Parts: sequence; C-alpha cells; structure tokens
Amino acid sequence: MFKLNRWRPKGRGRTAQTGRERDGLNPRFMRVASMNEVPPGTGKLVTMMGREIGLFNVGGRIEAIDNTCPHNQRPIGTDGLTGGTVTCFWHNMTFDLESGACTEAPHFRITKYPVRVRKQEIYVSPDAQI
Ligand code: FES
Repeated sequence: MFKLNRWRPKGRGRTAQTGRERDGLNPRFMRVASMNEVPPGTGKLVTMMGREIGLFNVGGRIEAIDNTCPHNQRPIGTDGLTGGTVTCFWHNMTFDLESGACTEAPHFRITKYPVRVRKQEIYVSPDAQI
C-alpha cells in the first residue's frame, strides 16, 4: 500500500510559531490601544476593521464591546460607565460589561469581543462573543 506521509519531508505540517502566538495571542488579535489610553474607570472608542469598539477599564480589567446598542442600534458611547456597567444615553438601558446582559431587560445583550493585554498593549479579536 502506498503511504502518502512517507513522502512528506520531516517537520512538514507544522507551522512555526510567531512571536504573537508565543505571547498567547491568536493571530486574529489586533492591537487597538495602550493601557495608558484607557485609565481605570474610563472608556475609549476605537475602530477595528470598520467596527466601532468601546473599550472600558473596569478596575484594571479591559472589556471590549460593540458600540451598537441592541435596543435601537444607536451608539452606546463611553460616558455612561459606572462601576462594571455602562448606560446607553439614548433610553437609559444599563448593560453589565462582564456578562453583556441588560440589567433591566436581560434579553438585550451587547456584543462583546475577546480581549488580551500584553506588555501594556490592548489586543482585541474581531471574533465576537455573544
Ligand atoms: S438605543 Fe440604547 S437604550 Fe435605546
């Protein structure tokens, strides 16, 4: 029987790790800001692949959400950050930044994005978590 893998050169099929992968970053994570641009208790809007992303520093933990409110598709903004929640100023719905759920109507959920912080740089993956 003819075995295909017999003809495969040694080491083939493995891909070399990039520096980003060695740092625990999927190649799809993109640098969007530095930690000093988002001090604790503040938010910042960034654009990633044409999407507006809200970054929030909640006690040193960075949360990334889509800047589109699930209630009426309007921008949430960053001014409504209070503790671990953000309030959309259009109709005052409040969203928990950790779970993404609206505190008044849990069926409304903001779209969250995976975040990694490496060497004081913030990386976000465009693969949304719902
Ligand atoms: S559009 Fe955000 S609460 Fe209505």
